[in-house]
Amino acid sequence: MNLYPLLRPLLFCLSPETAHNLSLNALDQAARLGVLKQTLPPDPVTVMGITFPNRVGLAAGLDKDGAHIDGLAAMGFGFIEIGTVTPKPQPGNPQPRLFRLPAHGALINRFGFNNQGVANLVANVQASQFVKNGGIVGINIGKNAATPIDRANDDYLMALEASYAHAHYVTINISSPNTQNLRSLQQDDALEALLAGLKDKQQRLADQHGRYVPLALKIAPDLDDLQVEAIASAVRRHRFDAVIATNTTLERAAVMGDPHAGETGGLSGKPVFEKSTAVLAALHQKLAGELPLIGVGGIASGEDAIAKRQAGADLVQIYTGLIYQGPALIRDVGEAMIQYRRQQHRPNI
Ligand code: FNR
Repeated sequence: MNLYPLLRPLLFCLSPETAHNLSLNALDQAARLGVLKQTLPPDPVTVMGITFPNRVGLAAGLDKDGAHIDGLAAMGFGFIEIGTVTPKPQPGNPQPRLFRLPAHGALINRFGFNNQGVANLVANVQASQFVKNGGIVGINIGKNAATPIDRANDDYLMALEASYAHAHYVTINISSPNTQNLRSLQQDDALEALLAGLKDKQQRLADQHGRYVPLALKIAPDLDDLQVEAIASAVRRHRFDAVIATNTTLERAAVMGDPHAGETGGLSGKPVFEKSTAVLAALHQKLAGELPLIGVGGIASGEDAIAKRQAGADLVQIYTGLIYQGPALIRDVGEAMIQYRRQQHRPNI
């Protein structure tokens, strides 16, 4: 039974951050009591060397500390990306820092990586039943706000080292608009140095742990064609394992006139769909299938997810659509992915 249409008006009476925390705690309770159990039809696929039970993932940022993995997993996701986590705990930006734009199916957030630090996240992963049962968890890492940008690589290396043994894959987030100068790491020399350092560290950690954990790079939608080309060539050169396209946008054109359009932060949901899908398609064209791609940004229906697949995504992730539509969207997207595969007459593995 889909209760979310009844619950949503109540949740939307609360401040977005209160509703967010309440929903996550309620999800955990429901999962613990066994009253929430949505299973998606099996649709196994191997990407980055990992076999996913289906192609639908939770995007980073909803569970920054990995404190709600079991509740979220009970909604049927094929994989859960937790984080962004930073080496040390930090409070993030002052509240309010999350805004709803219901007329546009959108959110604006400027959380600024509020999190309890990577050691706490690792403890949460270790305690998760989903993980114990073989569920797939990606850990998304970032830098602390207090770390100067020219020392950012140290933070990524520290967070990679701490999370490596506990992740199925690790995402390098250099695309949040809410940490000063973070997006400058997407450019030329800074990107070169970061990717080289991370690949070197990954190799050492793989030797140490006897297990290769893939690295994915998460990029912004606010990139022009030349920038996408430079990133594609860098990830290829450094043999990164995947790219996640995209994070939230700074652009406001699609939401002009909304009471919250002027809020600082990253815009997500329907208004980012086109931009994000265009970056995905450009990447796909430049990488010519050499690297797997994860498509995220504005998925609000099964058709949207199919459009991401057509643009080159091997896997998809959702966040804002879930806030507006609840768990039914996960099922719709899962079913659409199967339908798309049938249309292509392609076996999955
Ligand atoms: C995010 N997103 C995000 N991404 C990331 O890599 N690290 C993070 O900590 C966060 N935090 C975050 C908070 C909130 C409130 C939102 C809405 C989003 C970005 C998210 O993972 C995704 O890339 C974008 O939101 C686009 O997808 P949707 O939301 O349009 O499906």
